Amino acid sequence: MGVYEETFNKSIDNPEEFWAEAAESIDWYKKWDSVLDRSNPPFYRWFRGGEMNTCYNAVDRHVEKGRGDQTAIIYDSPVTDTIRKISYRELLDQVSTFAGALQAQGAVKGDTVIIYMPMIPEALVAMLACARLGVIHSVVFGGFAANELAIRIDHARPKMIICASGAIEGKKQLAYKPLIESAIEQSDHKPEKTIVFQREFIQSELTQEGDLSWQEIIKDAEPADCVPVAATDPLYILYTSGTTGMPKGVMRDNGGHAVALHWSMKNIYNVEPGDVYWAASDVGWVVGHSYIVYAPLLYGCTTIVYEGKPIGTPDAGAFWRVISEHKVKVMFTAPTAFRAIKKEDPDGVLLKKYDLSNYKTLFLAGERLDPDTYHWARKLLNVPVIDHWWQTETAWSIVANPMGIEQFPVKPGSPTMPVPGYDVKILDDEGNELGPNQEGNIVVKLPLPPGTLATLWRNDERFVSSYMSAFPGYYETSDGGYIDEDGYVFVMGRIDDVINIAGHRLSTGAMEEVIATHQHVAECAVFGTSDSLKGQKPLGLVVLKAGVECDEEELKTELVQMIRSQIGPIACYRETAVVSRLPKTRSGKILRGTMRSIAVGQEYRMPSTIDDPVCLEEITDDLKKMGYPEK
Ligand code: COA
Ligand code: AMP
Repeated sequence: MGVYEETFNKSIDNPEEFWAEAAESIDWYKKWDSVLDRSNPPFYRWFRGGEMNTCYNAVDRHVEKGRGDQTAIIYDSPVTDTIRKISYRELLDQVSTFAGALQAQGAVKGDTVIIYMPMIPEALVAMLACARLGVIHSVVFGGFAANELAIRIDHARPKMIICASGAIEGKKQLAYKPLIESAIEQSDHKPEKTIVFQREFIQSELTQEGDLSWQEIIKDAEPADCVPVAATDPLYILYTSGTTGMPKGVMRDNGGHAVALHWSMKNIYNVEPGDVYWAASDVGWVVGHSYIVYAPLLYGCTTIVYEGKPIGTPDAGAFWRVISEHKVKVMFTAPTAFRAIKKEDPDGVLLKKYDLSNYKTLFLAGERLDPDTYHWARKLLNVPVIDHWWQTETAWSIVANPMGIEQFPVKPGSPTMPVPGYDVKILDDEGNELGPNQEGNIVVKLPLPPGTLATLWRNDERFVSSYMSAFPGYYETSDGGYIDEDGYVFVMGRIDDVINIAGHRLSTGAMEEVIATHQHVAECAVFGTSDSLKGQKPLGLVVLKAGVECDEEELKTELVQMIRSQIGPIACYRETAVVSRLPKTRSGKILRGTMRSIAVGQEYRMPSTIDDPVCLEEITDDLKKMGYPEK
């Protein structure tokens, strides 16, 4: 039996023993009463009775154990032309001071706080300061519009909002404060305070009641100590797209999360404390939470906060510069970033300017890694290119090539093997387990390992109905795929109305809800089509209300604007077709999946429940006129 098999079997046969051993790497104020509380399935709770603090484990203990002078964070910002290094000691000072300031403003354990910040070290300081106090943070990605922020404010009910005065997105300067004000105006819940980190290039006017300047409130703040929290207490809420306009608030606990993320650094990424580890993502996404902030710091690595893009800041050699200049050992990003670089510099000319001798492995996730991009990256970098599959819900990978346990030969198109802790199965729609190479629903047998979602914030029912009901005893991932004869898992894509644009998860249902509010629209369908750069892009089909005559071009422009202002520019919504009707089943369900298959040129079976096959033929013609399927 290989090391992987032995490790995997132990994690499944005796998860309590497996994770209790892993938990030794975390410092506890009080050890747990039970490793895994199985008393109320499907609500499994890890390390019940244990007490610890995530910030203590990510910051203080490294200073206490001699890592104080090591760099904790490298802030590399080509857009502001800044490189700044922050040691663990300095980080402790900044985090404890800001936590003290938060405390002085009334933040206490159990409160919620929304953080809306770009890629600057203060975003990490804010998150860690919350963790220090047992305050639950909810970071919202900067590309979301005010309306999306308002939805999250109403659901998370934050006592405060912490933001920056603005951001630089590529070449654009964005002012955040007006957006925050607009969100608060739209929301029913009103946060008591808004703390603004003033950036040099853009100053916010602090004129609203409760407005505070970050720089001012830290001036005479007393440093705050870590507040012990229960392992099962929430660390954060992270909203992610579901199938409707109401996002899902994934709730992450403290203890299990720290244990799992710490374990993943050696076993999946094969790094050592002190190594430089770079996840080129954003703190607003789960990759940012887990692998820019918590995992590298829990493990004592140096993490990079990169405020830039793979291209255009200033060129397609940006990633190679960062890797070379900061001696990065492992880098993690989304395949889209590599497709963007490949498009600008297909022969990798810019790479030749840099010394990448410290660089060992490229990890990719967030969307399907197409074999072309895999081969291009592998040849260019001459290091292992490791695809791994995970979700906001899980916080760390479900399927990966576990580089620190055993390295498997790569099969392009597959993220490789189930990670220890995840008992991955393929089921048909009736819940029967399928054999090798048979495609079906990818599920994980319960219990899920530590670190995965404990529930959905203030919505246990949705947690059960979204993930635990379709296949009792299993977590439904909503991805489809198969396992081959060698045990390699192939993830083929979402089987719900979630799409993946440039590694960003978005809901077509949410886009439909916006489009449906247009005065001329009777009904609509939005689904994902292929995009050679961003993987997927949304396409909207709309049926006009009877008797409406309008300028179609104007309507299309208005719909684009509506999605930009109500969801955000990252939805990349650009294309609409006006059609006379939408194909449906006899019970009235719109056949989005069938239309999507037609648009991407995939074979499909005529649904037996179709109401009117002629309608589907008409749509096929409409799509053809728009150039679908694309060549
Ligand atoms: N704040 C505000 N707006 C943002 C934003 C942010 N943090 N991030 C993106 N946007 C905006 C962009 O400016 C763009 O607006 P525009 O339509 O006015 O031009 C829109 O959202 C779409 O952004 P994006 O999808 O990033 O496209 P792009 O054309 O600007 O850049 C890439 C293309 C490939 C460079 C970019 O998508 C990229 O870096 N992808 C990698 C994604 C990644 O790392 N994902 C990590 C998840 S693990
Ligand atoms: P998110 O919650 O934003 O991380 O998005 C999760 C979704 O992204 C998954 O359900 C998959 O559909 C997709 N995804 C993430 N990583 C991969 C991968 N390595 N291969 C295929 N799809 C992926």
